[in-house]
Amino acid sequence: MEQSRIFHILNEVASTNNYAMAKVHEGLATNGTAWFAHTQSAGKGQRGRTWQSEPGKAIHLSIVLSPSLIFRVKAFYLSALVAVCCREFLSSKTGHNFFIKWPNDLYWGDRKAGGILIENIFLGGYWKWAVAGIGINVNKMQFDETTQRAVSLHGITGQEYDVVALARELHEYIMDRMEAVNEDSGKTIMDAYNEHLYCKDSKVRLRSNQAGFYTTIKGVNNNGQLLTEDVIERQFDFGTVEWLL
Ligand code: BTN
Repeated sequence: MEQSRIFHILNEVASTNNYAMAKVHEGLATNGTAWFAHTQSAGKGQRGRTWQSEPGKAIHLSIVLSPSLIFRVKAFYLSALVAVCCREFLSSKTGHNFFIKWPNDLYWGDRKAGGILIENIFLGGYWKWAVAGIGINVNKMQFDETTQRAVSLHGITGQEYDVVALARELHEYIMDRMEAVNEDSGKTIMDAYNEHLYCKDSKVRLRSNQAGFYTTIKGVNNNGQLLTEDVIERQFDFGTVEWLL
């Protein structure tokens, strides 16, 4: 698939995802085009939440992707592959093990180092583009009480990172992996995802339909549903269950 791995750098923007989506609509983006911003004034998180990060100390990166056939057959594979790439990249850069908290948060221990927000663009009912928005705390030193479950790469390793260089490398890493995908990649993607699934085989407390309960995380299936087991086997769609940690 034709690619253009242009890496644009912006000083400040409301949200790199919104910016990238606007560029797609203007016809100024293609598969692999990326926008990085030093600062986001209105960063978006999953499920309508905001994403806050310290100016100049985090990766705010949005990559425009043209979904290949395998992703059209199983849309979750695209989300899973972006999460797998980010996890592997963070582990290799820090020498620490990272995990994916379902569906696509990046965790070190019990703390969140980053998150992913994928937004899709449909034209005439056809899934034309995905914008993979990646936020990673890099050089932030301290987190306030409301974000004490957050962590930065600096907090983990004590090192100071070149944020732009790191984002450029991550962009290349993701595009290399996207390019290598073929129609048989589904199992490899899901195995890599489930191998590093946060709390896999652990008992956790979840809430669904206003009821809290203990259950054991067993994995995530090809449709992106969380599978758990207690007295019964359960499966959850994203948005239908909350973690009570
Ligand atoms: C989450 O954890 O809820 C997802 C966070 C995603 C944040 C990134 S930062 C770059 C891109 N632009 C946005 O507005 N959001 C994503």
